[in-house]
Amino acid sequence: MKAVVYKGKNKVAVEEVPDPKIEGPTDALIKVTTAAICGSDLHMYEDRSSASPGCVFGHENQGVVEEVGEGVTSIKKGDRVVLPFNIACGFCFNCTRGWTSACLTMNKKVAGAAYGYADMGPYRGGQAEYLRVPYADFNALKLPGKPGDEFEDDFVLLADIFPTAWHAAELANVKSGDPVAIFGAGPVGLLAAYSSLIKGAAEVYVVDKVPERLKKAQEIGAIPIDFTKGDPVKQIKEHRQSEKNLQQSFRPGEAEKLSGVMCAVDAVGFQAHAAEGGKEDPMQTVKWASQILNPTGSLMMIGVYFPADPGGQDEAQKKGLYEFPLGELWSKGISMAQGQAPVKKYNVYLRDLILAGKAKPSFIVSQRLPLAKAPEAYENFDKRGSGTGQDWTKVLLKPELDRSSKAA
Ligand SMILES: NC(=O)c1ccc[n+]([C@@H]2O[C@H](COP(=O)([O-])OP(=O)(O)OC[C@H]3O[C@@H](n4cnc5c(N)ncnc54)[C@H](O)[C@@H]3O)[C@@H](O)[C@H]2O)c1
Ligand SMILES: [Zn+2]
Ligand SMILES: [Zn+2]
Repeated sequence: MKAVVYKGKNKVAVEEVPDPKIEGPTDALIKVTTAAICGSDLHMYEDRSSASPGCVFGHENQGVVEEVGEGVTSIKKGDRVVLPFNIACGFCFNCTRGWTSACLTMNKKVAGAAYGYADMGPYRGGQAEYLRVPYADFNALKLPGKPGDEFEDDFVLLADIFPTAWHAAELANVKSGDPVAIFGAGPVGLLAAYSSLIKGAAEVYVVDKVPERLKKAQEIGAIPIDFTKGDPVKQIKEHRQSEKNLQQSFRPGEAEKLSGVMCAVDAVGFQAHAAEGGKEDPMQTVKWASQILNPTGSLMMIGVYFPADPGGQDEAQKKGLYEFPLGELWSKGISMAQGQAPVKKYNVYLRDLILAGKAKPSFIVSQRLPLAKAPEAYENFDKRGSGTGQDWTKVLLKPELDRSSKAA
């Protein structure tokens, strides 16, 4: 079959690889209809992770069951499914508590496994024609309808970024009426803003510098903040100060101490750009979040930080050690959370929100391409909204388009 193979820094190729096979009785084989490229793939693409050449990428996978092992009882050939990026056993201590992101049995190295990802076990990715799914009864989420229907591009986002973004809003303690700040308007940041709005947040600020992405934030009802136009902390505070009714509701002493937000999400991670100068500052968004949070607020860092970064700017960063504004966060009593999202905890509910017409996460999708165009897709999406990547916000690869062009 054809698959997207990592060839080393800034290079992927679409190559023939051996077909996946059923390896155990609980496996299923999926014919992939849509596989998305994630911001997390870009860290590997840029050689900022421990991924080795030869790795088949793709952890946001959806398709139709082609074959099942003899122990699979709840899904069958022809069923439409989407797979959480986490591969989990369902029976270990962490899985039974809902933390499928830290499954203890699927990866010898660390807690947690995934398709086509550095250090996440021996599993191939689904940016390919077919994919092997371990423990298919537990991992596959069943979907209604037919491939290519009106929900295809919404459902594929259930593999990762919609549940991931929801998890970010959840652990940032977003509740109805809250003011929220999201740093990063990539797919994860935009959907964290969207999730916060669905959860009933009163105001959602989205900070980035990419005009196309900020425009999408505005379209869903968030307030876009361009950090190249001035300190985003100051911009958010000024916006809140301009809300007369809010200001009139404060008692003496409240206005200054509640001038920020209660919930913040870092949806950028270790490759964050510094405020000025175009360089990286892995702590830039965390610093801004620590400044904009009100006392007793919450910060969720959903953007990735690796234990090792070959491209770190100094010896400490290469080991995943960062200068962290702990003093400010501690003195304000901020709750903090981070880590990989346990997709299965949310995907069924978010599927049903989509079916009920209450969520349409595919508003972020900008390109739908055949698998063969993966090199071009990576090159442009990797620009993260600059230059020729200006309007590449979320890219879907569709092996179905390769099949139909071959047939034509
Ligand atoms: N925790 C999880 O389970 C999980 C799952 C999926 C993705 N992620 C991570 O989430 C992060 C975002 O993913 P994505 O797909 O949206 O990526 P992306 O690379 O498309 O988006 C990142 C955005 O951050 C913006 N940005 C850069 N520096 C900034 C700054 N200082 N302030 C504000 N914005 C800034 C960029 O302009 C870009 O729009 C990545 O680190 C990804 O690996 C984590
Ligand atoms: Zn992802
Ligand atoms: Zn497990």
